[in-house]
Amino acid sequence: MSRLSQRPDGAVVGRALPHESAELHVTGRALYTDDLHPRAKDVLHAWPVQAPHAHALVTGLRVAPALTVPGVVRVLTADDVPGTNDAGIKGDEPLFPSEVCFHGHAVCWVLGESAEAARRGALAVEVDYDVLPSTLTLAEAIAAESFQGAQPTVQRGDAQAALEGAAHVFHGETEMAGQEHFYLETHASFARVEDDGRVFVESSTQHPTETQEIVAHVLGLQSSEVTVQCLRMGGGFGGKEMQPHGFAAVAALGARLTGRPVRLRLNRTQDLTMSGKRHGFHARWRVGFDDEGHLVALEATLTSDGGWSLDLSEPVLARALCHVDNAYWIPDIRVTGRVARTHKTSQTAFRGFGGPQGMLVIEDVLGRCAPLLGIEAHQLRRRNFYADGQTTHYGQVITQADRLERAWEQVGVEADLERRRAELAEFNATHEDARRGLAVTPVKFGISFNLTAFNQAGALVHVYKDGSVLVNHGGTEMGQGLHTKMLQVAATTLGVPLRTVRLAPTRTDKVPNTSATAASSGADLNGGAVKDACEQILGRLAVVAGDRLGVPAEDITVVDGVVSGAGTGETLSWADLVHTAYFARVQLSAAGYYRTEGLHWDSSVMQGSPFKYFAHGVAATEVEVDAFTGMHRTLRVDIVHDVGDSLSPLVDIGQIEGGFVQGAGWLTLEDLRWDTGEGEQRGRLATASASTYKLPSIADLPEVLNVALLERAHEEGAVYGSKAVGEPPLMLALSVREALRQACAAFGPMGTSVDLPSPATPEAVFWALQQARAGAEPDGDVDPGAGPTPPQPDPDAPLRRPESEAAVDDLAQA
Ligand code: MTE
Ligand code: MOS
Repeated sequence: MSRLSQRPDGAVVGRALPHESAELHVTGRALYTDDLHPRAKDVLHAWPVQAPHAHALVTGLRVAPALTVPGVVRVLTADDVPGTNDAGIKGDEPLFPSEVCFHGHAVCWVLGESAEAARRGALAVEVDYDVLPSTLTLAEAIAAESFQGAQPTVQRGDAQAALEGAAHVFHGETEMAGQEHFYLETHASFARVEDDGRVFVESSTQHPTETQEIVAHVLGLQSSEVTVQCLRMGGGFGGKEMQPHGFAAVAALGARLTGRPVRLRLNRTQDLTMSGKRHGFHARWRVGFDDEGHLVALEATLTSDGGWSLDLSEPVLARALCHVDNAYWIPDIRVTGRVARTHKTSQTAFRGFGGPQGMLVIEDVLGRCAPLLGIEAHQLRRRNFYADGQTTHYGQVITQADRLERAWEQVGVEADLERRRAELAEFNATHEDARRGLAVTPVKFGISFNLTAFNQAGALVHVYKDGSVLVNHGGTEMGQGLHTKMLQVAATTLGVPLRTVRLAPTRTDKVPNTSATAASSGADLNGGAVKDACEQILGRLAVVAGDRLGVPAEDITVVDGVVSGAGTGETLSWADLVHTAYFARVQLSAAGYYRTEGLHWDSSVMQGSPFKYFAHGVAATEVEVDAFTGMHRTLRVDIVHDVGDSLSPLVDIGQIEGGFVQGAGWLTLEDLRWDTGEGEQRGRLATASASTYKLPSIADLPEVLNVALLERAHEEGAVYGSKAVGEPPLMLALSVREALRQACAAFGPMGTSVDLPSPATPEAVFWALQQARAGAEPDGDVDPGAGPTPPQPDPDAPLRRPESEAAVDDLAQA
């Protein structure tokens, strides 16, 4: 066992504790960024002027009319920017743009004595636009070759040659929609000037350091002159990894120019129309199998919809390319990726960060090909699992293949799959207008940032004279329970009761140069840093305790606040020890640091070992589909997931449940629509509220949802033997999609391959099952009396329509 992973006696990690802020959350006492401005004086409110075009040049901007509106104090425009007019780090995101690149793009911001005054002021600003042609859909972007950024390829062997020699070759296209984060708390910032023009920004940000950097470059300041604090977020889900920067910069600019505090909080519609979402992807693929159903080769081109600027699109794409294998060994493989530039919001990180999109491709391939190969989908999947010693297509060696195998076995037993498959067959044989499907899918998700440099973290731990402990670390809390885990880590390392330790809000002047709290690595990285800081302090205290108890420092242990020396019957209390140490002039504070060892990644060839380890999971999902409406219900879900030795089991189970449901929402309900017509509203987000964008609600939860943590799952390479949990469970929801596919296929004859759109909304499922049914007719015709005629191909969304004939043609054996 490594020193990092070993747990001491009486460890506080591993205990099932509620979230550290649970009580505050449910009583409304938890403070979020936008709760702060009512406590300040003379606050100004910011409101954007949003462009009503998807693509246009700003040819005139007159702010004078706004200044006559009562309560309007100032209008911020590009002319006001003392530093760099850019909200990102790539120089492609002008904060005050002269070219509008999406419907709703903010061209300037109005500051008012109230939000209402600022809103009226925004209406009064006069903007002239020269409207330009726009590219909206992925299909349009691909046709126009509208791409941005790098176009990397990950490959091994000779996929083309292997495809030529393969016994069975299929090809097809897969398209999947993006997803709106819909965090409960919309983007929020609150900026104040301190003496000397320095600024202090409260921001709902997953990446305080980068928010600080962007604020500094917009204001023309140094990083040391800007402090960013994040109290907590009401959800981030990746949407606050890069997108908060511009909003924070607008607030900070307003504060600098007026000397007054500026509050900026987007309302829901603004948040939906201005901030980036999960990337939709399109994939074109060719796959080869041998006669036993082993994958022999895959060739694929993945195109993501990046929106108007790069943002995080390149790393998201890299993760997608690194996850098209999911859990499967593919000997010869070539996958290429590119990012489309479209006139939409700049699509960004979203839980899984491209991993879900990559995995969806291979699960779609397997789900569509299984019937054509005459192999049950679950058998096809299991047959292709990696074995230890094999490498991924980017060159990382597989070492924990047994974990997936054990999870797969455990799900099979606990979910009673054999019996239920028989029952399901009986149900399907005896029901005319409903079908059930039961699918099992694996997840193997790489943990660490692909970019090696980001895999570092810092912490600052203070022990006060009374023995109480205050922990600062570089991670942010967004509901995922990171702070809970960090409290448990600190209490474990110091050997004190949990109540002795408190957590302070994340701020850049306490822990500098932090990475985003992202890639699920918050606990791994910051846990390592907190542990390091606590060990430094404990090491110093052990010398003091050794002196008092007459034993060598190595023989001192602290458990639950009681200090003892091996072989002596004597003990000291923690508070007593700290008191003694202070008077002996021993430093009671330490800065901790951690970096993940053993990572390497060469992005020029897309090869290396970018991940510290993989998180694994398996889900079995049963659904029922109604033939008349396409409505579906998830009857039962069984999950076994690998979180290592859990740092905090309740938190982890909550993450697994929440991730799964969020993934199921992406795959079955949430349907982002833009106006793709040629009219005035072209490019407008049509689903800009909760009334048109369907999120999972309590009624959409599986009727039975069993979650088990994989046993014997100690992780050598991570803090106290744990594994990251934040994102991987989202991808377990691919089992819902695969179960729906199987339920649709069950309306047709044996061997029916179903091409299911994503999201598989009731409408999409309805057409898919119609198509399967149509296949059941000997002459291939749909009886007009039996249901509506399949829809005509829609030129605006040609890739996402369930085009009936094409689905089978696409898959024609080559
Ligand atoms: N859980 C909650 N409740 N809210 C969130 O915003 N974000 C997810 C995941 N779980 C999120 C969440 C995402 S996208 C990531 S990367 C991780 O939490 C980040 O936190 P961690 O690194 O501490 O796991
Ligand atoms: Mo998570 S998408 O890495 O913030």
